[in-house]
Amino acid sequence: MVATEAPVAVVTGAAEGIGNAIARRLAQGGMHVVLADIQDHKGEMAAREIGGTYTHCNVAQENDWNALADDLTARFGRLDVLVNNAGINPAPQDFADYPLSAWRSMFEVNLDSVFLGCRMAMRAMRKGGAIVNIASAAARKPVGDMAGYCASKAAVCMLTKAVALYCGQHKLNIRCNAVLPGSVETPLVDRLRDAAPDPDGARKAAAARHPIGFVGAPSDIAGMVHFLISTEARFITGAEFCVDGGLTL
Ligand SMILES: NC(=O)c1ccc[n+]([C@@H]2O[C@H](COP(=O)([O-])OP(=O)(O)OC[C@H]3O[C@@H](n4cnc5c(N)ncnc54)[C@H](O)[C@@H]3O)[C@@H](O)[C@H]2O)c1
Repeated sequence: MVATEAPVAVVTGAAEGIGNAIARRLAQGGMHVVLADIQDHKGEMAAREIGGTYTHCNVAQENDWNALADDLTARFGRLDVLVNNAGINPAPQDFADYPLSAWRSMFEVNLDSVFLGCRMAMRAMRKGGAIVNIASAAARKPVGDMAGYCASKAAVCMLTKAVALYCGQHKLNIRCNAVLPGSVETPLVDRLRDAAPDPDGARKAAAARHPIGFVGAPSDIAGMVHFLISTEARFITGAEFCVDGGLTL
């Protein structure tokens, strides 16, 4: 077992994008961060850079979560924070042509993962802790050709509330909150824009859709997560925080 006095945090989807920024922020705050992802090379590099630990975990797979739980017990004997960040948003698709297989895989990665992660955390956070689920502004503001994404993220918000209530009712001392980002410059968003007929126009239009006039940076989301896991947020549970430049107004 690694002798660490530092609180231990697991951040899923931490090899790049928002998850990577969250992992960095938590490590800067003195936590030992376990970066969980399926991009092993990027994940290992990121873990080395921030002094954390990388683990391969496909968040849609129950076996991978079980292995992660065993690993946490063996290495650290504790878990204090879980950030369910990993998610996918494939290119927009016409609703009438939406394949059931795409719908199901969206829900596996975006929603089943949060269920599996929260369940693991409830078992592993023996002295209590904090869970933050990364949903999306799309949970509140629908996008017609992203039905699966919107629905999966809206479900993450309700799951967050149910988990918070359960943890309170069972005196687990675990808080659970959701963060709903607007557009944030990450590889996920780059891929969506690059697939658009006019990528530059799409970038400008994205900024214009946000009343604040620009899209977010991963650090904007990381700052909110860092606040939510801190003792300053000790009275906050089951809540949703839009970090979206006013997109959902
Ligand atoms: N970027 C945005 O504008 C935006 C807006 C709202 C919500 N979000 C949400 O924020 C989260 C992070 O988004 P991002 O933009 O950083 O995405 P990204 O694609 O840039 O990074 C996602 C990370 O998750 C990992 N990942 C994907 N599937 C996985 C799986 N099955 N198991 C483990 N890891 C997996 C990827 O390897 C990658 O490292 C997602 O849940 C996304 O829906 C993003």
